[in-house]
Amino acid sequence: MISSKGTLAVLTGGGDCPGLNAVLSSVVKSALGNGYDIYGIENGFNGLISDTMKLMTYSDVSGILPRGGTVLGTTNRDNPFKFAHVQTDGSVTYTDERETIVRNLRERGIEVLIVIGGDGSLHIAEELSRECGVKVIGVPKTIDNDLPCTERTFGFDTAVATATEAVDKLHSTAESHHRVMALEVMGRYAGWIALYSGIAGGADVILIPEIPYKIESVLHKIEQRRRLGKSFSIVVVAEGAKPVGGELTVARMVKDSFEQVRLGGVGEKLTREIEAKTGIESRCTVLGYLQRGGSPTAFDRLLCVRYGSAAVAACLEGNYNVMVALKGDKIVTVPIAQAGSKARNVELDNDIISAGRQIGICFGD
Ligand code: F6P
Repeated sequence: MISSKGTLAVLTGGGDCPGLNAVLSSVVKSALGNGYDIYGIENGFNGLISDTMKLMTYSDVSGILPRGGTVLGTTNRDNPFKFAHVQTDGSVTYTDERETIVRNLRERGIEVLIVIGGDGSLHIAEELSRECGVKVIGVPKTIDNDLPCTERTFGFDTAVATATEAVDKLHSTAESHHRVMALEVMGRYAGWIALYSGIAGGADVILIPEIPYKIESVLHKIEQRRRLGKSFSIVVVAEGAKPVGGELTVARMVKDSFEQVRLGGVGEKLTREIEAKTGIESRCTVLGYLQRGGSPTAFDRLLCVRYGSAAVAACLEGNYNVMVALKGDKIVTVPIAQAGSKARNVELDNDIISAGRQIGICFGD
């Protein structure tokens, strides 16, 4: 059957995140409902290069809204402008696959590509539109909430809920053992997850990349609590937090990814230092990929449904090369070129920080 409206394609790129399936279901249902054909591309830009895609039907997306992960698969490795080929001897060569992508899109009659992704994927989408004339629409995804031009990325609310639950659970074990418990959370170079979950979970210390910390301030807070008869303390530390004048803690270097490094380890460093300087037994829990898994919260589901339908509405209006975004609780579109600009960090005058200070939380400064 020839569709009346034309043909779209959708892919999920970058690290996975709660809500990807909810966006997919919204995009596919909105597209089919408006008379489009829509291809689902497997494993991010990889499927666009290897031509691994299929026409989506209602039954492909039926029932996936509450499910974590992405039924299309994803990868945060394949950059079409520098596509890596690993040789048998382990060496790597690179090719520019932009022509392959344009050819595959043309052969399938795909007019618009919907990219559900974080800064890496949205940057590639922007480059495809600018360099190759591909019409793209972006949907902002990441648990880190650090994309510019939108007040919320989907997945963040769920990650905060997971981290808050972890802080709650750490409270009881910290109190029983009279320990300092640190929870290291994700977020890359932004402290959104640490800030929100730390406040929501009632942490005593919250360390975020935007406020380099002094160990003396952290120790002072812990000692102050001890004097008040509180023999335990809870610290939420963002993976990108660093001491004043110090460096980021890097778990390992990463090859062939948008990211050059994988952050990790600051929580362990911190607890060792706290234990050495206070004599209080201290432990670190790294929450890791649990933050990216599981079913999205009601807030995220709603945001995903709105983002997905707005992406198709943009196609209907011929409003291409944009990213859908949340501004003042309204869904809007912004030029995708702006969406790939500098990451959005926690502003130092954010009222959540002020509220935290008011209730005595230490931010390490
Ligand atoms: O951007 C999402 C995120 O989960 C970050 O919070 C974290 O630093 C990174 O991805 C981990 O990426 P990877 O999947 O490459 O380990």
